[in-house]
Amino acid sequence: MPVIDSVSVEKRKFSPKKNFVKKSHIKSFKEYKKLYNESINNPEKFWSREAENLDWFKKWNKVYSWKKTKLETKWFDGGKINISYNCLDRHLKTRGNKTALIWESDKGRSKQFTYKQLHKVVCRFANVLKKHGMKKGDRIVFYMPMIPELAIGILACTRIGVIHSVVFGGFSSESLKDRIQDSRAKIVITSNASIRKGQAIPMKKNIDKVLSECKSLKKVIVVQRDKSLKTSMKKNRDVWLHEEINYSDINDFCKPAEMNSEDPAFILYTSGTTGKPKGVVHSTAGYLMYVYLTFKYVFDYREEDVYWCTADIGWITGHSYIVYGPLANGATSLMFEGVPTYPNPDRAWKIVEKYKVSVFYTAPTAIRALARFGDEWVNKCDLSNLRLLGSVGEPINPEAWLWYHKVVGKNKCPIVDTWWQTETGGIMITPLPGAMDLKPGSACFPFFGIKANILRENGKPTKKGEGGYIVIEQPWPSMLRTVYRNPKRFRKTYFSKFKGGIYFAGDGAKRDKDGYFWIMGRIDDVVNVSGHRFGTSEIESALVSFKGVAESAVVPFPHKIKGKALYAFVTLKKGLNESDELVAKLRTHVSKVIGPIAKPDKIQFTDALPKTRSGKIMRRILKAIAEGLDDVGNTTTLANPEIVEILKKERV
Ligand code: PRX
Repeated sequence: MPVIDSVSVEKRKFSPKKNFVKKSHIKSFKEYKKLYNESINNPEKFWSREAENLDWFKKWNKVYSWKKTKLETKWFDGGKINISYNCLDRHLKTRGNKTALIWESDKGRSKQFTYKQLHKVVCRFANVLKKHGMKKGDRIVFYMPMIPELAIGILACTRIGVIHSVVFGGFSSESLKDRIQDSRAKIVITSNASIRKGQAIPMKKNIDKVLSECKSLKKVIVVQRDKSLKTSMKKNRDVWLHEEINYSDINDFCKPAEMNSEDPAFILYTSGTTGKPKGVVHSTAGYLMYVYLTFKYVFDYREEDVYWCTADIGWITGHSYIVYGPLANGATSLMFEGVPTYPNPDRAWKIVEKYKVSVFYTAPTAIRALARFGDEWVNKCDLSNLRLLGSVGEPINPEAWLWYHKVVGKNKCPIVDTWWQTETGGIMITPLPGAMDLKPGSACFPFFGIKANILRENGKPTKKGEGGYIVIEQPWPSMLRTVYRNPKRFRKTYFSKFKGGIYFAGDGAKRDKDGYFWIMGRIDDVVNVSGHRFGTSEIESALVSFKGVAESAVVPFPHKIKGKALYAFVTLKKGLNESDELVAKLRTHVSKVIGPIAKPDKIQFTDALPKTRSGKIMRRILKAIAEGLDDVGNTTTLANPEIVEILKKERV
């Protein structure tokens, strides 16, 4: 049995209100179950019907195939389709003047694009990329703040079949370098500044050094976010987007490339248990199909909705549920540049009021942070347009769920607690809000086409109430296709734990007596800090790269706001002295190597780490120490059991 965090199973149930159900796509559990069964037992029928709702240049020959031994899945093979066409062009006739994208700046300025306007800038942007020689299959890396050019840029890539790879703007320049080098990108698109809490932070300047170390790089396209910021531009390499896009030879129309269903659409790097982050590759048709459908049903999408997902486009949530899912449905999607608590703790609620947001999707860490300021900040804003709330990124504790439901949702908005991953492309386990009762803390049931199960170590299914590994037993349209340039890692990470082509997600879960899924968090060495995902080994490598650090072990510990935070045990080489100053230096170092979001909250120096006789660090013990437990479990297999008491005594 895997070691899993314990969750108390909440007993309360919340039924959707009658008027909510009346307008829902799926109105009852029975209806859900019928469609679900069809999607599992007859996927061809289910998916070919749904795929008719997308626009194809050429229809597919075969809905799906799955070669278990090769671990190769194909969806809508033989079909030709374009993502950007499905997100833009096909709405022009019926929704041309409807708002597609709303952008709220850090300072409260607003910019809006109708479908027609968005179509035009995406086309122009795509033409700029073509002019710079970009062709199908080339890679472009984006390193941007949350500004419209990011959404426009990735749509421009998919328009011409260029593979985008967005790197979260909070990552360090070193992390960016790794990703540019791994993806062998020819162009980097960045911004001269990122604006945060009223301050302009130079962005391009911070990465100039590493850009010159990337051999594949031919061009850097720079957005001028802050005119007043002096930005040095390298001759023959760096160009300004506002100049490029306004040249008279740039056309307002760009023909969408006819992509094969299985052509890769994008790469997104994500942390694993070992080594450097891996480039998760997503396909074209399957990905689009799945994010289209999940957006429609999970958010129970209505034409008049104003939908706001607070994620950054640098993460999969932003790809799938700020850009592609909403736009494929013709929705109005809001993107926000700033932070939800600036200038005041009611900023998020002010935005909901300002744009009459009806569907709001955020992370538990944000909910906890906002709840901390008290109900009055929420109550003074008009949230009457909200009808549905969502949560993603980590398990939501029932207290945060109940606060969200009562104070934000005024007891009338269902909450969709959506479980999924970078690798899954779209939402996997989730309530369908009109079709089922909610239990706070439970992600409820698998989405259509998702054959989820919970297995024991020996591969046998768990009993009700028993914890185990969550797996997916059949491929689904938006399953990652591979790890970029590393198929071995793809096989090993996701398909080696269990035999027979079973996808291993890395999370622990259990099902209660009613069949509801309860996700219990990672069971491997991946940690979710404020919904951001890290491999503890990445942080350990960063610490060890500091001169004078001999060894380190990083484990998670519970944190009121972040969900989980990082606790680092560090041993020093002779000559370096333990001090508060060194703690600060180490934290800054991790920030430089990976990014500020990866900084350990606590660092404890120690002369030794608890190890087995074969030299393996016993993380289970370190985790117990970090969690403040007295009983750290069995220590008899340790080569140095005496270290445990010292570590306990000196814990920070
Ligand atoms: O541990 C699970 C957690 O986030 C992991 C995936 O992280 P990432 O690839 O960064 O994608 C995050 C956004 C989709 C999962 O393995 N996770 C995500 N959503 C939930 C969750 N844990 C519990 N409940 C969720 N709703």
